Amino acid sequence: MSTTNVKQLFIERFGAEPAIYTSPGRINLIGEHTDYNGGFVFPGAIDKAMVAAIRPNGSDRVRAYAADLDAYAEFGLEESDLPAEQWARYIFGVCREIIKRGGTVKGFDTVFSGNVPLGAGLSSSAALESTFAFALNDIGGLGIDKFELARIGQSTEHNYCGVKCGIMDQFASVFGKAGHLMRLDCRSMEFAYFPFAPEAHGYRLVLIDSVVKHELVGSPYNDRRASCERVAAALGQEFLRGATMESLEALRGQISEEDYHRARFVIGEERRVLDVCDALEKGDYQTVGERMYQTHEGLSKDYEVSCEELDYLVDVARECGVTGSRIMGGGFGGCTINLVRAELYDNFIATASAKFAEKWGHTPKVYEVVISDGARKVE
Ligand code: GLA
Repeated sequence: MSTTNVKQLFIERFGAEPAIYTSPGRINLIGEHTDYNGGFVFPGAIDKAMVAAIRPNGSDRVRAYAADLDAYAEFGLEESDLPAEQWARYIFGVCREIIKRGGTVKGFDTVFSGNVPLGAGLSSSAALESTFAFALNDIGGLGIDKFELARIGQSTEHNYCGVKCGIMDQFASVFGKAGHLMRLDCRSMEFAYFPFAPEAHGYRLVLIDSVVKHELVGSPYNDRRASCERVAAALGQEFLRGATMESLEALRGQISEEDYHRARFVIGEERRVLDVCDALEKGDYQTVGERMYQTHEGLSKDYEVSCEELDYLVDVARECGVTGSRIMGGGFGGCTINLVRAELYDNFIATASAKFAEKWGHTPKVYEVVISDGARKVE
């Protein structure tokens, strides 16, 4: 839905002129499940985002309308009970986390909408959290810095949605910059923008959505994190970051085989992110692509967050001569991210769509994304 639509819907419902804020979803070129291990990630914000119309209402209540769901929820800012609606918990959580940090949140009305596909691994929930964190900070003149805005979104996931996520998605949504990926060191929180223009080198970046939904709430994601934390503790480290394959091998008899495989993926992934950053600076897309395939292999076999549908899409990509392909995001369904030579693009999309539909009974969705700016006020 466009900005005009949320604005129009807001005026119809609440009878006054709102301010408009937006914050995007993200892709991640490489560096998966490294954020909560203190490692590196390499995301970029995309041209798919949440948009919210907001206006203070002079009360101590939040009245929210989710336009895409045609659903309404209301909660008090003094209440600590979670709203029943899952989507409202993100807004509730952001308000609570700002208040926890000493910020003032006054009652407001809001209408929001978005075009970030849900459950596709593109961080629709981070987009929603960042939109409200950014807006409430701006409206209230709270002066919260951008890293803290990202942490407010992350804490919302931890404390109100049951996902012990890392910082990547919220960071990307807040800090995104058009035409640039961001290499973030999740231990020091230092980051750098890298210009990213695959087209200039004869490549295209495309996402193929299996439309298989992952369910990160509950155990699988948190279980992966717990495995990594056990191995880090056994190594006497705060994070897995910086551990070597040698130190892991030395520990092998003392940890479970499952934990060993989880840690093996994370340690390998740390190196791959740095390799990809170097390769990108040299215009060496071949190496970028090879590392993407290696990441997929690790996510599938060692980290076990892929699924048959996604493994199938990566196999088809390989058969079509695609330079790099892998499952993207937390896993358990969602999209593959593919780096493909421009001249192979049409054939790849046609072949992958047809083969996938024949095998799995439904057609995957194809998204071309443009690397875009992060959270902002519109107009
Ligand atoms: C989800 C989480 C992120 C990150 C990725 C995997 O998107 O929200 O923090 O851990 O999975 O890289």
